[in-house]
Amino acid sequence: ESCLDLCSHSLGLQPKRTKTLVSQVLDEWANRGSLTYRHPGVTNIFSDLDLAERLGRIIGAHKDEVAVMNSLTVNLNLLLTSFYTPTQERHKILLEESTFPTNYFACESHINNHKKYLVNESLFLLRPGQDELFHTKDILNIIEMEGDSIALVMLSGVQYLTGQLLDMEVITKAAHKKGCKVGFDLAQAIGAVELSLHDWEVDFAVWGNFKFMNCGPGAIGGAFMHRKHVHNNFPKLLGWWGYDIATRFNFTPQLDPLPGINGYRNSAPSPLNLACLAASLEIFEKTTIRKLRKKSILLNRQVQANVPLTHLILLLQLSSYGVKMISPSDFTQRGCQMTVRLEKFDTKKVHQRLKDNAVNCSFKDPDMIRISPNPFYTRFWDVYRFYQVFQTVLKN
Ligand SMILES: Cc1ncc(COP(=O)(O)O)c(C=O)c1O
Repeated sequence: ESCLDLCSHSLGLQPKRTKTLVSQVLDEWANRGSLTYRHPGVTNIFSDLDLAERLGRIIGAHKDEVAVMNSLTVNLNLLLTSFYTPTQERHKILLEESTFPTNYFACESHINNHKKYLVNESLFLLRPGQDELFHTKDILNIIEMEGDSIALVMLSGVQYLTGQLLDMEVITKAAHKKGCKVGFDLAQAIGAVELSLHDWEVDFAVWGNFKFMNCGPGAIGGAFMHRKHVHNNFPKLLGWWGYDIATRFNFTPQLDPLPGINGYRNSAPSPLNLACLAASLEIFEKTTIRKLRKKSILLNRQVQANVPLTHLILLLQLSSYGVKMISPSDFTQRGCQMTVRLEKFDTKKVHQRLKDNAVNCSFKDPDMIRISPNPFYTRFWDVYRFYQVFQTVLKN
């Protein structure tokens, strides 16, 4: 399958292609100076609209529903301006208690900016079950009971701590039934799982492209807004880049943004950053998310009892060392990531030993290790090697 062929060399392929595209950007700049942005058809690296259309195929969205811009938190702030318009009756934002901290900060700042509302009354934190996971039936219960006072359900597609994949379609449907708007943080989901944002009727979503999109730290982010909101009169924050390119450079003072999410683009994006995304999309276009997901699942589960044990699920066998698996054991309910707790260890030290052995995973204080076998460039062999290194480190 194309993703299996790809995985053996894409770790090298993508940086190489990024270098080529970045040097094209620098050549353009050297040759054309400030005309770089206006020159038609030289290379589509400069067209954030073109990249948005290609990115749309990865998240199940139409081209007029996706913008390539800023980074996740900035995009969240832009969309909260439109989608969080509290009233006395409906003023709450539903967030997971363990959401990525930037989501609290953005939501808190919007609640505060509206003056009439208090964070401790309007920020509604969803608590996980005893197993640290969010169960769909509990989320639906909360929405059913509290929905009339919830303005916005703002959850993670894939939870960054536990790797849990939420049922975005079912949650969206239930929230809409109660009249709430729905937004998702897709930082850990994009490029890792199949998404159908348009069909699920999600109102908006935001993400960065540095994790499973492989674009590197500080990569340009993205935002989705459903077509049903294409002509809206929501409050919003605008800038010149949201104009149609045909009139943008006329520099007229009339406010004339494009309809939909592309009108929310405030500033000129960095072409260097667009080049990194263009390189990533080229590699994604050699396969499909469905195939990547299939491989990801194979990396994460034991296929057959008699197959050599090369799968990450082996971690479960480490329970005798006190390794506790936090991610859902059902692989369809998690993204590419597995999280374990090492309650009996100095986890920081374990993490350091893993790094010393050239194993790259992330540590969350005090005792969590997050392991993400990215299907693009993680081989079955790598998973096996991880298991061996991990076991040796724990033994010692
Ligand atoms: C789940 C999640 N949300 C939000 C962010 C913040 O992204 P940004 O720095 O692009 O605002 C991150 C960054 O890693 C993340 O993992």
